[in-house]
Amino acid sequence: MLKMTPMLRQYLELKQQAGSALLLYRMGDFYELFFEDAQRAAPVLGIALTRRRHNDDVEAPMCGVPHHAFDGYLGKLLQAGFRVAVADQVEDPATAKGLVRREIVRTHTPGTVSSTELLEGDERCFLAAFGGDDESHALAWLELSTGTFEGMRCDDARAVSEQLGRLRPREILVVEGWDGWQDSWPPGLASPTVTPVPPEQFSPSAGEERLRRVLGVSSLRGFGLESGERLVGMAGALLAYAEGTQRGSLGHLASFVRRQPDDALVVDRASLGNLEIERAADGRREHSLLGVLDSTRTRMGSRRLRDWVIRPSVDLEVIAERHRAVAELTDDAMLLGALCSALRDLPDLERLAARVGLRLATPRELHSLRAGLDQLPAVREAARRATSPLLCRLADALDPLDDVAALLHLRLAATPAAIVGTGVIAGGWDPELDEQRQLARGGKELVAGIEIAERESTGISSLKVRYNKVFGYYIEVSRANLDRVPQRFERRQTLTNAERFITPELKDLEARILAAEERVVARERELYDALLGDLCGHSPRMTASAGAAAGIDVLAAFAERARRWNYCRPLMEDSPGIVIREGRHPVLEEIQRSPPFIANDCELNPESAQIVLLTGPNMGGKSTYLRQVALITLMAHAGSFVPAASATIGLTDRIFTRVGASDMLAKGESTFMVEMTEAANILHHATPRSLVILDEVGRGTATFDGLSLAWSIVEYLHDEPAHGALVLFATHYHELTDLASVLPRLVNRSMAVKEWRGAILFLHRVVDGPADRSYGIHVAQLAGVPAGVCARAEQILATLERHELKIIDAPTSGGQEPGRLERIQQLGLFRPASEEVADQLRRIEVDRLTPLEALNLMATLKKRLSNED
Ligand SMILES: Nc1ncnc2c1ncn2[C@@H]1O[C@H](COP(=O)(O)OP(=O)(O)OP(=O)(O)O)[C@@H](O)[C@H]1O
Ligand SMILES: [Mg+2]
Repeated sequence: MLKMTPMLRQYLELKQQAGSALLLYRMGDFYELFFEDAQRAAPVLGIALTRRRHNDDVEAPMCGVPHHAFDGYLGKLLQAGFRVAVADQVEDPATAKGLVRREIVRTHTPGTVSSTELLEGDERCFLAAFGGDDESHALAWLELSTGTFEGMRCDDARAVSEQLGRLRPREILVVEGWDGWQDSWPPGLASPTVTPVPPEQFSPSAGEERLRRVLGVSSLRGFGLESGERLVGMAGALLAYAEGTQRGSLGHLASFVRRQPDDALVVDRASLGNLEIERAADGRREHSLLGVLDSTRTRMGSRRLRDWVIRPSVDLEVIAERHRAVAELTDDAMLLGALCSALRDLPDLERLAARVGLRLATPRELHSLRAGLDQLPAVREAARRATSPLLCRLADALDPLDDVAALLHLRLAATPAAIVGTGVIAGGWDPELDEQRQLARGGKELVAGIEIAERESTGISSLKVRYNKVFGYYIEVSRANLDRVPQRFERRQTLTNAERFITPELKDLEARILAAEERVVARERELYDALLGDLCGHSPRMTASAGAAAGIDVLAAFAERARRWNYCRPLMEDSPGIVIREGRHPVLEEIQRSPPFIANDCELNPESAQIVLLTGPNMGGKSTYLRQVALITLMAHAGSFVPAASATIGLTDRIFTRVGASDMLAKGESTFMVEMTEAANILHHATPRSLVILDEVGRGTATFDGLSLAWSIVEYLHDEPAHGALVLFATHYHELTDLASVLPRLVNRSMAVKEWRGAILFLHRVVDGPADRSYGIHVAQLAGVPAGVCARAEQILATLERHELKIIDAPTSGGQEPGRLERIQQLGLFRPASEEVADQLRRIEVDRLTPLEALNLMATLKKRLSNED
């Protein structure tokens, strides 16, 4: 048994409450960490590890941080994934008997950060809870810093994983002892802080009660939630955890939004990366889609724009409303200008509202909140001139919150001090505070009066009244004048050149000043808490207004971009299909100075051009073209105009992208296995409403394996009615171009090049028909591969082309060069059509076909048989 000191006992008790969180134990001006906590935190904080001797038995490793620098250190710990429990002194050390009582006043965790200092502008910070069984899964997420509180039911772990990939939560709650969460965690995503909680926290009935209480409703049906469903349990666990860690109110949480897995255009995490939505391949944000699109003026606008782009809408009405609003702003430069200037410098009201709702707002944050509220009427005024329905609605939703602003003007000092107690409450609000301030200030004036009076009575003109922490107020007389010091002065301290004295009168005044100052501090604290209490109730209104301002900000940013880069308003249609005239890549056209960007058309439709097979030389522009079509589709769904002369975009449910090994090399992450896993995902989940981008699929393996896979993937997407997505497939396998002769909805296009004096010129133009050769060796030449090597490569190529079949097959008879189709047939890639047709018939689930689909299928099969003849 260890010997205990009272402090050690208290520490260990608190540590037990803190569980696996680090415990920061307040001692004087420091927060100290002991034992293993100290050993884990010291290297992260970059501070020295020392030891503290508690008694003969116990000597603990220790490290500490000064309390005034706490925020900076906290940031580092959270960044490193730690949870941090803060134990503060909860009674006054001056009056406490024995050891000062300490309690855990708050637990900071990576997924519940709300401080505006610890979060970047559009950075999101989600806490998530999920779980499920064979039947169904549920996933809920909460962002305390904005009051976002949402969730969805998912069919399987994969759907959970997909949503997690978009959210990228920093922290997840899981049932104690369950490590199944890893099955749902998106591969490649950095591991979150995993916080185990007892199973009863996930109980739907406890969750229901908690949701009703916090959200202030009597039934959850208004949020689309059913009693007893797993999702309620997940949402409840989040609330329980937030309440427990914050130890305060969650006043800004006003609703729960139930999402559906299919209520947005789904772009999975891999595709977000492939399309360079958030970051370019080189890691730069400026060269990503968001980087060029986001000219919002506020942080909440920036977050909202990101939401719209990452979860584009699939509701034609919502999309049309956004397009209409952007059109109005694009046409009306005056209105756009007015909105932009009204929004300029508007602070992050959404996060400030959250801080108020959590009752954690600092005086500086309230100061900034007040400035923001003062600006709202101008935003509303400007927005009210709009006539498009969405802008009108946003203007109406933008509550100018005059009353809240007035309250802040009345009660918060014009320039509040940083710390409560030192001047944050406005004068004239509270008579008691004013009086105590007067006393404190008046006392100081009296002190100044004493100095003058004592100079006169002693005749010492250099006599000074001063203050320090040790002696309080004192009179200082220089050595030369000591003989003139009267009896009533009591000596307190002797310095080299002077002596210090006190007088009863001075001490009496000092006591009065200190008492008044203490009362000022205490009264300010009370008044500040009361102010936070009164503001807290308004926090949902502030959140709503901030949301409206964010929406206006995004629409204005879209309009600005559309004007500046000549975007067009896309026409949205319910039926699948894409027609783009003179489309451009939104990022490349901006960042590439030379050569100038070449616009290209695109036509995809389920009837005659379901699959476009794109061939052409390296560097021809294939990947760029593929991405550009996907980006235009995505931007249109987000509500933005698009970089094209005109565009008609059918409603799309998912954008899949698979970028083959060669194009992923830069990221150094791809293996053939990953490539095939992603391909499998596409083949399972693509629907006729999906857009599938396949860039060099199959390249990561032996040529013939890759070619065969690419071949069968294209066939599958073409022939399986349930998975008949629109497909853009860029490839170097020229053999594939022959597929056009057997797959009626597959068309060949290629990147045009010109040969000029032995060099090749990339025109970056998409033209009909397959490319006639690969030009790989030309590109090698351009890249500076020695001429000898290139010449030899030409020779080898010629031989290979002549003898290709000999590599794997018997020599061809008669030495005649076989036609390409014939060659492929001999390679065994091309099974007899009758066998294919029989195979397909076997796979068909007759009762899942509509009569129309059945008819179409018959036609296709018949055509295939006739091709064989
Ligand atoms: N439409 C265009 N207008 C102007 N320049 C373009 C265009 N498209 C592509 N480029 C330029 O060509 C370069 C190569 O494009 P891209 O990577 O798309 O070629 P690729 O055909 O996919 O090549 P590879 O076969 O090697 O993957 C781009 O980096 C860009 O600078
Ligand atoms: Mg490419």
